[in-house]
Amino acid sequence: MNKRIESLRLVPLTLEDCASIFELFSNFKVLSAYVDQPIKTRFETIDFVKRITSNGSWTWKIIDPHSKNSIIGICSLHNLDTIKKTIQIGGTLFPQYWGMGYMSWAFINVFKIISQKYEVNYIVCKTTPSNVRAIGLAKKLGFEIQDLSQNEVVLVKNLHNII
Ligand SMILES: CC(C)(COP(=O)(O)OP(=O)(O)OC[C@H]1O[C@@H](n2cnc3c(N)ncnc32)[C@H](O)[C@@H]1OP(=O)(O)O)[C@@H](O)C(=O)NCCC(=O)NCCS
Repeated sequence: MNKRIESLRLVPLTLEDCASIFELFSNFKVLSAYVDQPIKTRFETIDFVKRITSNGSWTWKIIDPHSKNSIIGICSLHNLDTIKKTIQIGGTLFPQYWGMGYMSWAFINVFKIISQKYEVNYIVCKTTPSNVRAIGLAKKLGFEIQDLSQNEVVLVKNLHNII
């Protein structure tokens, strides 16, 4: 693991982070990964942050102490299904940090949180079929394609399989 990755931290996201979250979801490269724009106006940011941090959704900011912005992205858990024992994972980085192994690091740490906190057997990751980065990341971390349609690819990982 390189030194920069070793210094990354996951810290729960709060309403104090709204400015960074709006900046993240205003980035045109980030938006190309989404069918619907997650935050349409700055005024929606508070509701968005509340939505991804409450009522069965948990979000961490990924902190890089060596970066000017400090917050380099986020990763989230949502849709915990206690019957099916599944939970969905997602994440977004500012584009200047893509392809450096950072989200692999974040997801692996979130897998540990899932194992410790939730009775979950399967982790679900959904993205668009054209999102080669997200699909590559998921496959590298042991997810397998379960469903593929024109607008969505659903990948699933058995949490108890070693990467
Ligand atoms: C998708 C995203 C989170 C990936 O994060 P990342 O930190 O760039 O991913 P990593 O560097 O950890 O890459 C992990 C693996 O993904 C694959 N990958 C990364 N970039 C890729 C590319 N351009 N093409 C194909 N595969 C790619 C590789 O298999 C890579 O492993 P390797 O570097 O050992 O070959 C990031 O690009 C992003 O924030 N995109 C916008 C938001 C988004 O698409 N979110 C959906 C996530 S569910």
